[in-house]
This record gives sequence, structure tokens and C-alpha cells, in this order.
Amino acid sequence: MATDEKTSKEQNGSISSVLTEKRKFPPLAEFSKNAHISSMEEYEKLYAAAAADPDKYWGDLAEKFHWFKKWDTVLEWNAPYAKWFSGGKTNICYNAVDVHANSWRKNKAAIIWEGEEGHQRVITYGELHRQVSKFANVLKIAGIRPGDRVAIYMGMVPELIIAVLACARVGAVHNVIFAGFSAHAISERVNDSRAKMVICADGTRRRGSSINLKNIVDEAIITTPSVRSVIVLKVTGETVHMHDGMDHWWHDLMGLAMDECDPAELEAEHPLFVLYTSGSTGKPKGILHTTAGYMVHAANSFKYVFDIKDEDIYFCTADVGWITGHTYMAYGPLLNGATILMYEGAPNYPQWDRFWDIINRHKVTILYTAPTAIRAFIRAGNEWVTKHNLNSLRLLGTVGEPINPEAWMWYHRVVGQERCPIVDTWWQTETGGIMVSPLPGATPTKPGTATRPLPGIMVDVVRKNGEPCEANEGGYLVIKKPWPSMLRTIYGDNERYEKTYWSEFKEMYFTGDGARKDEDGYIWIMGRVDDVVNVSGHRLGTSEVESALVSYEAVAEAAVVSRPDDIKGNALVAFVTLKDEYVGDMNLREALRNHVAKEIGPIAKPDEIRWAKGLPKTRSGKIMRRLLRELATSNEVKGDVTTLEDFGVLENLRDQEDD
Ligand code: PRX
Repeated sequence: MATDEKTSKEQNGSISSVLTEKRKFPPLAEFSKNAHISSMEEYEKLYAAAAADPDKYWGDLAEKFHWFKKWDTVLEWNAPYAKWFSGGKTNICYNAVDVHANSWRKNKAAIIWEGEEGHQRVITYGELHRQVSKFANVLKIAGIRPGDRVAIYMGMVPELIIAVLACARVGAVHNVIFAGFSAHAISERVNDSRAKMVICADGTRRRGSSINLKNIVDEAIITTPSVRSVIVLKVTGETVHMHDGMDHWWHDLMGLAMDECDPAELEAEHPLFVLYTSGSTGKPKGILHTTAGYMVHAANSFKYVFDIKDEDIYFCTADVGWITGHTYMAYGPLLNGATILMYEGAPNYPQWDRFWDIINRHKVTILYTAPTAIRAFIRAGNEWVTKHNLNSLRLLGTVGEPINPEAWMWYHRVVGQERCPIVDTWWQTETGGIMVSPLPGATPTKPGTATRPLPGIMVDVVRKNGEPCEANEGGYLVIKKPWPSMLRTIYGDNERYEKTYWSEFKEMYFTGDGARKDEDGYIWIMGRVDDVVNVSGHRLGTSEVESALVSYEAVAEAAVVSRPDDIKGNALVAFVTLKDEYVGDMNLREALRNHVAKEIGPIAKPDEIRWAKGLPKTRSGKIMRRLLRELATSNEVKGDVTTLEDFGVLENLRDQEDD
């Protein structure tokens, strides 16, 4: 293996980093020849120009869109609050749909959809325009006005994208809630955003069975006074209860709606969507994105990172319930007039070759997926991949968590046949779009690094005191200049916005990630430095899982940490102290896991639950998670325990057999 150990000590408030990867893969000349950016010189030039005059750089990009009124200023920066393209008026739905429906792309496929059971639908830009306009009229008739919040809770069907675009068309703020979330998680999000409407499906298909989503919504909206109506799309034909006056069928309303609807002329900073993500305290954060800045970066980053061409068929396996689905399943591709392949279901249904079969049948050219899926494919075996013809693929992407070099190499060899560049894209719900990524025709890649920042994006790795780290010294990943698709605030909570992102370092956005920059300026992400863990590419606040555990009758106290996991990236280990009258056994373990699934969703289920007579705490009462992390990973504690209050507690926390 071409990796070697580094033993840099924790010093200067930096973080020690352990791996150095030596392999390097320059883009093939074949690929570079036709790429939008075809050499490092071109990238460096663009990067330098954007750094020297960011207003000009972003302003020039914004010129490419349709504006009802041009902006007066590119950026008004009143740290940490940004206003991009002030004075301008536009509509992102108009730019993503009408612009193409009014062009030669009218009959081009916007969405090719494949259902889990094999159904196919093709929606052209012309048809998308009709459907979105109709649904926008439905929203208006239902009393939705610009600025109103609309929650959307459905599986991966084209109507999810239609609903999102229709909200944007009328200026409503969409709040998509991942269809794996529980009733409790829905009501928490709906209440925080005070949504006026919920759009859902009767059900969603998953691995051959179906989940009744409407029942979950019924349970959720008992406690959401702001919701006035629910629109239900028929997908699976489940039995659902339609409540008079409150619930309406999508098809009934669409049957009555006109298919022309003028897009609202919205201020550049008009709120576009709220998307909830986990933070290090219990309550999820409503990340607020606004119209024009998000549009500019979503479109531009998509174009250059995926080197998109009109002939491409682009397959993004993310769910629209997460930010990747928002930016690179819906807005980014549509703003570029691209063709999206949208698949409804699970990667292993009916067998482990579903993605590869889809790629072969639809002649997919670009695949964007997550390291957790790649690791699962590796485990399933190469034969599932190699039995399909993947010659149509020309570019591969990953997102969501660090990709370990061996998984990268597998992706490169087995899927990419050593011919397709891999774009490892680093970004966050908060950044709205990709910040660090190779440009596939230009950047030599190294397995495990997202490489260099995109032009206009000023990231750095710094020490605790804000000074830049030296090459290969681990530190904290920050962004030093505002960018157009940055979050504007946490919905309804400016104080938390300032504290979470802008208080750690002076005048820099703190990402929450540890990283190092190597001698080529490549960024290597080392994972989260706060109490947020990344499980299967999804961010979970360990404190949310703790709150869910503690809300169970038998539980007195809980601490949740992560340990590395081959497939999921990280697994969750919960240390649970029970109330005196309860005894920990297998049944209670299962009950607790199910309780967490009900409170948050199945993704948050702890993989392991250990009973703890007490938790290791400092004298001031803080739980020493560092020790728990060590215990969960290696079953022993080697780190510094001098601040531990009671040494006895550690002994009881080691691996436990099922009782
Ligand atoms: O820790 C980083 C990790 O995922 C976090 C953001 O999570 P979320 O907001 O859910 O967005 C995921 C999809 C954009 C980051 O702070 N992360 C994301 N992409 C990468 C990554 N870590 C390493 N490499 C990546 N390419």
C-alpha cells in the first residue's frame, strides 16, 4: 500500500493527521480535450481572477440568467450577513424550466424516472413546464403566498421535483422532509418553520414493500397548528384517510388547474428553502437558502464539476430530502438544461446490480453517489458490476463523507474502468453547493481528497487561533470569504447562526470539519470535530439521538458516540444509564432502538447499546465523550483521564455480551 503513517502531535491547537496517500491520477487527454476547463493552468487563472475581483467573477456568472430586473450590487456584506445581487429580481423556477421549455430543449428529457418495480416515465422540459405551472396554480388557489412555508414529504417520484419547483415559482419556501423521518421529526420541522401546507404521497415503495406516508403525516399534524391543508399524491394506492376540508388529492386539484402561471418576480434575497440538518445540540437547524445566490452557484458548480454537456444522462443517487438532492438532483441540472435520471428505490432491489443495470439500460454518462454506497457495492462483490456494460460512463462523483482510498480505487477500477475521472466533492447543507472538488478535465486526483476549492471559494485550514496551518498540519476547515450559495441564517434563530458558524474564528465561517492541506494545496477532510457524526453520508447530531433515548421511560441518562464502520462510515454506540427500577436486557435494547427510529427515523438507530451504571464525567459534570469514543472503538482507554471524576465507571463500560 502506498500510504505511510504520520505522527504529528497535537500542537498549536492543530489536529494530528495519520494518512498520506501517494497515488496521483492526471485526467486523460481524451477527457480534457472536450472539457469545459481543460488544464490546471486554466483553473489557476480562473481562481486567481476570482480571488482578485470576486464581485466581477460572480457578477459575470449571474449575467447568464434571466432577470426581471438587474441587480444594483453584487455583494453587501455585513458580517456575518450577506445580501447577494441586491436590487435584482428573478425566479429560479423560470431559469430552470421556462428558459429551456422556450428553447430547442422543449422536447428534451428533463427527467427520466425509473420506479422500483421497473416503471418508466420521461418528462420533457415542455411537459415539466406544464406540470409545474399547473401545480403552482394549485398552490395559489390553496392560498399559498410568497414567503409562506410548504413542507414536502414524499418518496423519489418526479412530483417531488414538480412540487419543489412550483413552490419556487410562486415564491413559497419549500421545506423538504426526507421520507425516512418519523412523525415526531416531521412535526418538529413543520412547527419550527410554521408551514402552512404539507404535500405528501399516500406511500412510498422501498425494497418491494411500501410505507404509508400519509398515516405518518396524519400523526404528525395533530401537533402542528400552522398546517391548513394537506395535498396527497397517489403513488402506491395505500388505504389512506382523507379528512374533509383538510386533505385533497393531488390529481383532483391538478385536474382543475390551468397550465399557465406567470412566475413571481422575486427579490434576489427572497427565501427559497429551509432544509433541516443536525447540529451539536438537540434541535435540528433550519438552514435557510435564498434565491439568486443559490441559483448562480448551483448552476455554475454543476456545469464545471460535472462538465455537463447536452448529450449527458446524469444519474444522482441522492434523495431530494437531502441537500445533494436539492442542488444536484433538481436545481443544478435543470438550470443547465440537463437530463436527470431519477431512480425511486434501493440500490439492492431486486438485486445488488440495480444501479449498474440502470446505467447500462439508460446509457448513463455521469454517476454521482456516496462512499457508503460504494463500500456496500464492494462488499456485495464485483460480479454485480462487471456483468453490465458500463461503457457509457464518462465521469464519476462522490459526496457526503470522506472516501477511503481503497474505496476510491475500487470505484476507479471496477466502475470507471480506469477511464473516468472521479470528482470527490466536499460541501455541506450550509454551503448550498460544492466548495472543494476536482475539475474533471483539469485536476490530477489523489484517492481520498476533494482536492482544491472551486474558483471564487476561499477555503483554508487554520489552527485554533485562526492562523493558517502549515502544509500537512491538521487543523480546522474554514471559509474566509462569503459565497453566493451560503446559508443566510438558521431559520428564526440568528443567534444560533452567529454562534455555530461565526464565533469560533474571527470573520471566518467554521465548517465543523477537521482537515489538512497537503503540499499541493489539496484538502483532506478528517471528519467532524463537533458532536455531529456522519452515518451513511447523513449528518446526525449525537445529542438528538441522546434526547430521543432519554425520552424513553426507562432511561435516566445517555451518551452517544461513533466508532468507525466498514460500510456506514460510522456506527452509533449509545451508553445508557437506566433508572433504578429497570434492568437492561435484550428486549429493552430492541425497544430503545425502535424508540429512536420512531422519534427520529431508522437512520438514527444506535448500532450498539451498552448499559452504563454511570457515565464518565469531569468534575464539572461534563460527559467525557472522548473516553467513550475510545471505548467504543477499541474497548480500552489510553487517553488522558486526569480530569475524570470517578475511575470506577470506565470498568463497567467495556464490551457487553447480550444479556
Ligand atoms: O463532514 C463533511 C461531510 O459531510 C458534512 C456535510 O454534511 P451535510 O450537510 O449532510 O451534506 C452532505 C452532502 C453535501 C461535511 O461537513 N462531507 C461531505 N462531503 C464530503 C464530506 N467529507 C469528506 N469528503 C467529502 N467529499
